[in-house]
Amino acid sequence: MKGQEWYQADDVAEEYDDKRFSRGGQLIDRREKEAVLEAITPVEDRKILEIACGTGRFTVMIAEQGADVVGLDISAQMLQQGRSKSKRSEQAESLEFLRGDAGRLPFPDDHFDTVIAMRFFHLADDPEAFLREMRRVSREQIVFDTFNRFSARSVYNWALPMGSRLYSKSEVTTLLAKTDLTLVDVEDDFLVPYGAYRSIPNALASPIRSLDTAIGGRPITDHFASVSYWNTRLR
Ligand SMILES: C[S@@+](CC[C@H](N)C(=O)[O-])C[C@H]1O[C@@H](n2cnc3c(N)ncnc32)[C@H](O)[C@@H]1O
Repeated sequence: MKGQEWYQADDVAEEYDDKRFSRGGQLIDRREKEAVLEAITPVEDRKILEIACGTGRFTVMIAEQGADVVGLDISAQMLQQGRSKSKRSEQAESLEFLRGDAGRLPFPDDHFDTVIAMRFFHLADDPEAFLREMRRVSREQIVFDTFNRFSARSVYNWALPMGSRLYSKSEVTTLLAKTDLTLVDVEDDFLVPYGAYRSIPNALASPIRSLDTAIGGRPITDHFASVSYWNTRLR
């Protein structure tokens, strides 16, 4: 998995959050957080695992909503950023960052209520094995996102240095069936892919986003969204 090495570089970890400072980056960050919260709320007193938590963007937010959260990532450098963020959070005691491999989770079966993984499946060599492992440690719910094959992302996807796997909707549906997961909801978004948002000038980001949501929410254009947010339950 190319992404494993990519995110262990000091400069990649240090610059990861800075990418979210642009207006386009903030819009993406907000939409992703909204998708996660919508899927997992209410979280109070629930045990949640975030796989490939990176710099803890979601981990800290979930702890602040009252959950007990573990953020796991293979990159010590990304986790370092997360730990610094958690020190500034009032919920530090319900937050733990752990180094580990998503392929061999260091937890017993059914240990968490909910398991989430954002921006991870595009890095996975064997998504079925990862999903099975997530399912093993979850009692109720699994939430993740995928980047879509039939979208504008495919134009530049091949050039991304960390590697990036694109999925069709039917491929994910088959994965869910193979791992005994029931689809609760899937939301498709971003006709204009993340990479493009991050590079457009700040002044244009909001108008383009408004256009994107207006056009992208229609039944025909929905198929070309670059991201899908999946909310699933154990059967
Ligand atoms: C694109 S970043 C996403 C980080 C975070 N989920 C977010 O959305 O901000 C991908 C993360 O996956 C982590 N990763 C890659 N392979 C992994 C593995 N086998 N086990 C755990 N984490 C892994 C990387 O270290 C990196 O932090």
